[in-house]
Amino acid sequence: MSAAVVYYTFGGSTKKEAERIGAELGAPVFRVREAKNRSLIGSFIPGGFQAMKRKTPKILPVDFDLAQYDKIYIGCPIWAACPAPAFNAILNLLPEGKEVEIFLCAGGDDPRESDAETKRLVEARGCKVTQLHSIKTGKAPSKMKE
Ligand SMILES: Cc1cc2nc3c(=O)[nH]c(=O)nc-3n(C[C@H](O)[C@H](O)[C@H](O)COP(=O)(O)O)c2cc1C
Repeated sequence: MSAAVVYYTFGGSTKKEAERIGAELGAPVFRVREAKNRSLIGSFIPGGFQAMKRKTPKILPVDFDLAQYDKIYIGCPIWAACPAPAFNAILNLLPEGKEVEIFLCAGGDDPRESDAETKRLVEARGCKVTQLHSIKTGKAPSKMKE
């Protein structure tokens, strides 16, 4: 079964995790970037609100096609107890009929009510969620230096 990892990061910890998973699987790793460069403050306001409202931000054009893979690993940080808005843009890249494993990087390990809706949104794309798991990074909100 062919697999690919697609992720969004703001602070870099989801990137690290995505690259670890990709290396373990021998799978390609694709990064999705928002079109607008957010500041740290902009990640909270309006970012946190956009995450809670499941808003889809514009992203930079991507040079990969997830249709080529059977299983897609989606990685995203948690903002305001929901996946960061870029998760919703990743959903739009997801072809029907894929197996999907979701890994969500969060500073803490509080249980999240949003996980059920996160799964439902993937399944609404005609995909099967095989797993959704959280990674406690212990990382305070920060912006990655590029
Ligand atoms: C805007 C914003 C909101 C956040 N909200 C939460 C939260 O609700 N719960 C939590 O455990 N961590 C929260 N965090 C921490 C991140 O989830 C954590 O630092 C994660 O490792 C970031 O991943 P990244 O480095 O790939 O961006 C938040 C971070 C940011 C920037």
